[in-house]
Formats: sequence, structure tokens, C-alpha cells
Amino acid sequence: MAKRELPIGIFDSGVGGLTVYRALHERLPNEKFVYLGDTARVPYGTKSLTTVERYAVENARFLARHGIKLLVVACNTASALALPAVRRAIEAPVIGVIEPGARAAVQSSPHGRIGVIATEATVKSRAYTRAILQLAPRAEVLERACPLFVPLAEEGWADTEVARMVAEEYLRDLRLAEIDTLVLGCTHYPLLRRTIQSVMGETVRIIESGEAVAEQVARLLEEEGLAHAPVEKRARSLCDDLDHFYVTDAAERFARVAERFLGRAPKVLEAVEI
Ligand code: SIN
Repeated sequence: MAKRELPIGIFDSGVGGLTVYRALHERLPNEKFVYLGDTARVPYGTKSLTTVERYAVENARFLARHGIKLLVVACNTASALALPAVRRAIEAPVIGVIEPGARAAVQSSPHGRIGVIATEATVKSRAYTRAILQLAPRAEVLERACPLFVPLAEEGWADTEVARMVAEEYLRDLRLAEIDTLVLGCTHYPLLRRTIQSVMGETVRIIESGEAVAEQVARLLEEEGLAHAPVEKRARSLCDDLDHFYVTDAAERFARVAERFLGRAPKVLEAVEI
């Protein structure tokens, strides 16, 4: 098979990376995708650097064995902690979510007062702060871990009163600091976007890295001559049988949550050991 006909690999610690899959699918309707959700070991955000690196490398090697032309590390925690290790482990080009998200935030922020919400491990790595300051050295960056957002999203409780109370508690400092832009630095957080936006107020710009990642992937495919030839648009839809989904545990639960996220469950879904 010609290299450009190979799928794009995506991995996440679980279901949250489906928000990145959706953005990639929308921007690149000619491409096929293979997605791995490491549902047996989610969450990554509370684990150590060594553990996240090991998980990320195992995931990347699994997808490389499947045959991919490019890998998107959709998980923010793995992008923040393990990108160099993943790049050493496989031959295909690797794109993480931190740099594109940071770039989108800098471009969108009117006064350079940028908040980042993410997992504990991502916040501790300060990867977003470094990436933002590299692009805008005068920016003020405030990071905050919001660990309870992940189970709330997984549970389908994103728009409930409980989620709102949790968001009010987590986001208080960021509101008081009068940030103008807020990066959703965890794949799960876009599911709570409505709640987060209403707690922060309508004037705060919310950044999801999915779209920015999709733009970067599109550019790279063109530059490297790896873009798939056009296919009939009608032939493609989210989660159709051209996109393959793998999970390391609890496939039924993944299918249920995917249906809530994407409006449909994957047609091809398999539980694997990696
Ligand atoms: C997690 O696995 O803790 C959340 C995924 C992320 O960091 O994006």
C-alpha cells in the first residue's frame, strides 16, 4: 500500500481523544484513522513521568505495527511528558497537542492573559507555560489542575449542577485573575465546554486544541506529500468502517461514551492487549 493511503494514528488515555478525532475527521475527510484508547490504564494525569512515558511508547508502537503514516498524541498528559520518547520509538512523524494549543491561545488572546486547565501531571510539567512563553514572552500564564473534570465527562455529567459546582471551585482563581483566554488542556475538558464557558463568562475565549492540531496535521501531510487522494465525501462519516478503534479494556463502555461524544458509536471497535 502506498504510504499516503495509510491511516493516521491517534492515541489517548481513553475516550477524551475522540474530540481530537472529530476535529481531524472534519478537517481531513479523505483520511482514514486508527484510534487507540488506553482505557485499561486511564487516567494518565495522576501518574509519574516514567509511567506515562512507558504507556505512551507502548501505545505508539502498537499503532506503528498497525501501519500508520503519522501519529497524533491526542492525550495532553502524554504530549506534555512523553513526546521525545515517542519520537525516538517510532519512524512516523509525531504531532502532540500542546504546541498547537499554545499557538491558538496566543493568536486568540487580546491581552496575553492566558489560563490553562489540565491534569495534575500536565500542570506540573509546565509544558503549556513554556510553549506559550516561547511564542509570546510577555504573556501571563496561569495553570490550574482540574482532575474531577475527567470522571464528570466520562460519566456524562458535563452539563449538570454537580459539574457547575466543581467548575466554580476550580476556576475561581482564574476568574479573579481576569484571564482573557482559557486553554482546555485535557482531551476530556471540551465536553464540559458549556459549563466552563458559563462559569468563566462569555468574554473569555476558550481554546480547544483539536482544530489547531488538525490544521498542523493538514500542513504536514501536504508538505510531506502524504495527503490521501480525494475520496467521495458522501462515502465518509464519523466512526464509519474505514476508521478502526482499539481499546485496552471495556469496549462496551467506550462505545457508549463515544456515542454520547460523537452521536454514533464506532463500527469497528476491538479490545486488545498491547
Ligand atoms: C488523563 O488521562 O488523565 C486525561 C487525558 C489528558 O491529559 O488529555
